[in-house]
Amino acid sequence: MTQKVDLANQFIAENVKKVNPIYRHHYHLMAPIGWINDPNGFIYYQGAYHLFYQYYPYESKWGPMHWGHAKSEDLVHWEHLPVALAPDEAYDANGCYSGSAIAHEDKLYLIYTGHVEQDGVRREVQCLAMSEDGNHFEKYRHNPIISEVQLEGLDADIADFRDPKIFEREGQFYCIVASKTSEDLGQILLFKSNDLKKWTFFSTLLTGEAKHGTMWECPDLFHLDGKDVLILSPIAMPIDGFAYENLNSTLAFIGEVDWTKGHFKVENEHEIDGGLDFYAPQTCQGPNGKRIMVAWMQMWQRTLPTDDKGHLWAGAMTLPRELSVDKLRLVQKPVPVKLQPKTQRITVSGDKTVLFKDLMTDSCYLKFELDISKTSQVLIALLKSEKSALKLSFDVDTQILTFDRTDFGLPLVGQEQSPLNRRHIKLSLADSEWLIIEIYKDTSSIEIFLNGGVALTATFYEIEKSQAISICTDGELNGTLTYSDIK
Ligand code: FRU
Repeated sequence: MTQKVDLANQFIAENVKKVNPIYRHHYHLMAPIGWINDPNGFIYYQGAYHLFYQYYPYESKWGPMHWGHAKSEDLVHWEHLPVALAPDEAYDANGCYSGSAIAHEDKLYLIYTGHVEQDGVRREVQCLAMSEDGNHFEKYRHNPIISEVQLEGLDADIADFRDPKIFEREGQFYCIVASKTSEDLGQILLFKSNDLKKWTFFSTLLTGEAKHGTMWECPDLFHLDGKDVLILSPIAMPIDGFAYENLNSTLAFIGEVDWTKGHFKVENEHEIDGGLDFYAPQTCQGPNGKRIMVAWMQMWQRTLPTDDKGHLWAGAMTLPRELSVDKLRLVQKPVPVKLQPKTQRITVSGDKTVLFKDLMTDSCYLKFELDISKTSQVLIALLKSEKSALKLSFDVDTQILTFDRTDFGLPLVGQEQSPLNRRHIKLSLADSEWLIIEIYKDTSSIEIFLNGGVALTATFYEIEKSQAISICTDGELNGTLTYSDIK
């Protein structure tokens, strides 16, 4: 271990008790102290899931990036492990940026971006670190492994060249890296190697259009249910109807890779999560072959109450979600959490409001199953106090669900145009279908899954605590509400 890694671990041990727990989650992964962003190096290795993350332990704001590290057997309960990487070499002096992991000959390899910024000039190169025990990592002596050398002759700039995702296919190692063209279009470059150390450029897997933003970050590529899926996080993707309402979005391309040419043929594309706080998702394959995705449950350029208030932490990961592909779309299902569900009937009509007083506990699961055939509007107020609520509304005709955290809890602002605190999801329900809303709530986050697949994730910081839910409609609404604490 290097001196900088030791220093980070020592700082964590000495200061972790000072963290203010008020807004800390119960079943979402956070750093023990300090700032967290992208999930990195997500892998199932030697009997457990390992999840690394972009980490700055010393403050609750972004700083020179380290890699934090946690492991879990069930993806719900996490054990913190020592910091894995610190920026301590000339090629990563200003940060060990995002990357991924691969197991090879029983060793665990991390591939990450070494970020250097000097006199206004940026250089981003891909580097390797290796571990025999899954806990302590040693950087490769001949780093970087992918740099200007492999970019020669390409329309790609070393200043924006990051977030390598590594995988093996038919005995060959591949790595995709995010980059952009001189015309500010996102592109994904594909490299290959036989030994993880010597890499050659293979192809430009995909280049975006202007509608896909100015730069892509954190790509991932996998084969699922007969399709190839490329996910990535575009910067400044323009709003399209009710989609891509954040300044930094997440995008899934579904299609097929032509492996002889190394080109991705897009058959469909869509936003991955329609919420306010979801970025930089990364996936891994579990022991049972299942594809699991986790993302940073925060967004760039937003108010960070836990930093402003000196709570010494900021940011968390989403609940990991199992993926599948159906009708050229990604379907997301949260990994199982332990529930003791109880169910109540819901009957609402006319202008009456139904109130459930104490169901929405600090960390809980809720499932609304609603027959919407006799109504045109549904309004659900969550965490409802006298003055405010997190509002969910569904318009039956347009099939648009709106989530609204305006005027709820501590004020949150970002740099996007309005609506600052409202997000939408368009469903395509068949006539006879019910509206199914599943909610995973933790202390300061909510993850909403609609009709078993589409997701919307957001954070909030309650001031006036409430556990109440109210439901109203303009017609007649029947159904059930299932609820459970999550321990
Ligand atoms: C995405 C990102 C990555 C980069 C990392 C730095 O959120 O900007 O592109 O590697 O964060 O922390």
